[in-house]
Amino acid sequence: MTDLNAIRQAVVGLCLEVGAFIRQEGATFDRNKIEHKGFNDLVSYVDKTAEERLVAGLSQILPGAGFIAEEGTADDRQQKQVWIIDPLDGTTNFTHGLPPFAISVALVQEGTPVVGVVYEIGANEMYSAVAGEGAQCNGKPIQVAASTQLSQCLIATGFPYNEFAWLHKYLNVLQKFMQHTHGVRRFGSAAVDLAYVACGRFDGFFEYGLKPWDVAAGGLIVQEAGGQVSDFSGADNWIFGGEIMAGNGVHSEMLQIVKENWKA
Ligand code: 2AM
Ligand code: CA
Repeated sequence: MTDLNAIRQAVVGLCLEVGAFIRQEGATFDRNKIEHKGFNDLVSYVDKTAEERLVAGLSQILPGAGFIAEEGTADDRQQKQVWIIDPLDGTTNFTHGLPPFAISVALVQEGTPVVGVVYEIGANEMYSAVAGEGAQCNGKPIQVAASTQLSQCLIATGFPYNEFAWLHKYLNVLQKFMQHTHGVRRFGSAAVDLAYVACGRFDGFFEYGLKPWDVAAGGLIVQEAGGQVSDFSGADNWIFGGEIMAGNGVHSEMLQIVKENWKA
């Protein structure tokens, strides 16, 4: 299957199926079933089973593509086409019965994301995009909000949770966003934060310490909804670089704040 739109449709169908499993498990989830991969790094049988099902389904959609995935699937990123997947983005929320949490699936071709799907399970919102063909939510086209002034904007972020070496730099930046925007929100799922920038609920999002599977799909969806995505220097290394800044027309104003304040 090489038609990217057909791939997007197939991935959407798969995410609906796996999302139904996650939703069902969430109804009876017992927090004693959490495992700790490392400090503040949670995983459960739900994340792992969801990943197995996604990998099985994606292997049928595009045989031969590699995988970069959060929960243990063999990493073979040297392939020309690679799936970057997070079976459950927002695990901490999930384990507390708190929305939002999502499935995030991106197809990356020679380093460039070409298909992105983020399924916000609780709200049953399916965000998707194909490079060059726009973004949609539940089949309807979406666009970033038409904001021009940061002072009127609502910005999302993620607090550092287990990598505190740069906490001071982060807090410097956070302080400026608190002082120069309409408000700052921390929802706990980077994939959903990006989807919400794409559909205009948030005007921008920034976070550091993220992994490719948290941002690859959502970043493409923002771009295809007319937004801008970069790392903290304004360059393109936002999938593997561990820093992301996404925004509508205020992206450059956000970038200026980060450039001036991302220092200890
Ligand atoms: P995850 O749930 O798939 O791990 C929000 O800050 C982002 O960081 C989420 O995309 C989340 O993805 C990731 N993250 C990893 N560990 C976290 C934690 N202990 N608390 C909050 N977010 C965490
Ligand atoms: Ca995850």
